[in-house]
Amino acid sequence: MKILIINGPNLSMLGSREKEIYGEQTLADMNADIAGWCADHGIETEFFQSETEGEIIKAIHQVRTKYGADGIVLNAGAYTHYSYAIGDALPCVKVPKVEVHISNVHARDEFRHKSVLAASCDGVICGFGADSYKLACLAVKGILERKAK
Ligand code: DQA
Repeated sequence: MKILIINGPNLSMLGSREKEIYGEQTLADMNADIAGWCADHGIETEFFQSETEGEIIKAIHQVRTKYGADGIVLNAGAYTHYSYAIGDALPCVKVPKVEVHISNVHARDEFRHKSVLAASCDGVICGFGADSYKLACLAVKGILERKAK
């Protein structure tokens, strides 16, 4: 079972970006942490990051064809709150999808309370730092296992 973990704009700046909100880990450190935890739970991971909407859309389209993955964990960063194009890309691929956020977006600025992606995902996890991604991977695994029964 393989999951494609997609990170959007500014997540490449983890480790130096607003550390009081996003923590000290770099994206590479966080990805290594997630990959190790997932491997221990029988999940293979692949990571993709882009600052641009079109590249994220392309990665979603290619979840099976290029990445050979069975599910998507998506932190679209600020695109979460207004990208109808990413919202339209999600139903194009029939794999489980979970939206994640490092921070608790509901305890932050008003504009972060709205997601235009959540309705096209199986669920949303936010507020647990790198653990948000691990919980999301576990959720995708659960969906796939229930489907296989
Ligand atoms: C974020 C929350 C978004 O509101 C913000 O624009 C990000 C990161 C998070 O992981 O907490 O870039 O998605």
